[in-house]
Amino acid sequence: MKKSFLKPGFLDLYKDLEITNEKLKKSEEKYRDLFNKMLNAFAYNKIITNKEGKPVDYEFIEVNAAFEKITGLKKRNILRKLATKVIKSIKNEPYDLIETYGSVAITGKEKRFEQYFKRTKKWYSVYAYSPKKGYFATIFEDITQRRNAEKIKSESEKKLEDVKNNLIMITHELKQPLTPIIGYAGLIKNHMKTSEDADYLQRIISSAFNMRDLINRILTLLKLETGILNYNFKIYNISSVINDALISKKPALDIKRIKLVKKLKNLYASIDYDRMKDVIINLIDNAIKFSESDKIIEIKVWSETNLVYISVKDNGVGISEENLSRLFTKFYQTEEGKKRGGTGIGLKMIKYIIDAHKGRIKVLSELGKGSEFIISIPKRELSKTENKEFIKQEV
Ligand SMILES: Nc1ncnc2c1ncn2[C@@H]1O[C@H](COP(=O)(O)OP(=O)(O)O)[C@@H](O)[C@H]1O
Ligand SMILES: [Mg+2]
Repeated sequence: MKKSFLKPGFLDLYKDLEITNEKLKKSEEKYRDLFNKMLNAFAYNKIITNKEGKPVDYEFIEVNAAFEKITGLKKRNILRKLATKVIKSIKNEPYDLIETYGSVAITGKEKRFEQYFKRTKKWYSVYAYSPKKGYFATIFEDITQRRNAEKIKSESEKKLEDVKNNLIMITHELKQPLTPIIGYAGLIKNHMKTSEDADYLQRIISSAFNMRDLINRILTLLKLETGILNYNFKIYNISSVINDALISKKPALDIKRIKLVKKLKNLYASIDYDRMKDVIINLIDNAIKFSESDKIIEIKVWSETNLVYISVKDNGVGISEENLSRLFTKFYQTEEGKKRGGTGIGLKMIKYIIDAHKGRIKVLSELGKGSEFIISIPKRELSKTENKEFIKQEV
């Protein structure tokens, strides 16, 4: 048998080396493949400086396939070449690339930026870093579509804002003639010859009042939507706001002989008094509207952990499960809602106001049994001095 002149141990080592080499080659191929399949463009470059050490150009050392695709520059035409030679327009760009990349390569500090390039008419998001002094690598992607979409979005948002502001102005103008209509109609009311005429005039007056009410609601909603309504937050006893809101609702409750049950507590929160009063009035209005005569409406205030809860509960027609989820959509009304009149503005308005109070609103309801609207807002504990000050607000 021919004896190997190599010691067996060495041969094994050699074989191992061969295998390792093969593996290395494979893994290098794998990485090269990955490198070329990267969706982001990659370029590795060397910065060129002048005698004073100021960056004046750079040279392409390696680029991947995505780079070729995104920039339109071909690898074979640019490797080992100067940027100013292959991108003739580089000096005409609004952004000084050489200076930016030069500072990355010299200081070693990475940079991220989004920039428009006149040559390609595209927006890029660029990340530049320096793996070795005097060199820099860039990883970037084409974000033109995203930038264009953002531009269109902000332009249409601006247009919508303008439309809403115009609408606020027009709606305000629409309201103006109603003041003399209501005023003069009231003046001649007592001079009507027949009771029939008096009845017609009363209808005119009621319609004018309804129209003014509707316009006011639309105006408030538009103002809440555009955010031009200022909130005036102060600490108040929630129960005293409720009592205040209820004063104006007595006649409507009496007409339907609805019994109101109050379970109030002295709990405080930072609120905009008038807006919160509007919220309560709207909830009571709904409870009355969707209750039959002789029913009970319950209004309750309590607290749990750091929240104050307000609930308005009726024993009225209730809301089906499928309608519950759409309740807070602008102008949404159920069939029952359309029958009983309204505009579908109230709950949307409430939602805006409660959001501004960092609160929440939820609804529990069952068709035919009744509904409960529950609001929660952050509670405010009173300090000793505040306690004295607020004692007069107790209900
Ligand atoms: N207490 C309630 N009981 C039953 N349905 C209600 C109640 N509150 C609101 N809804 C339903 O929600 C819809 C929207 O209410 P809302 O936004 O207040 O409208 P509107 O301004 O017409 O009163 C109503 O049309 C009705 O279908
Ligand atoms: Mg309502």
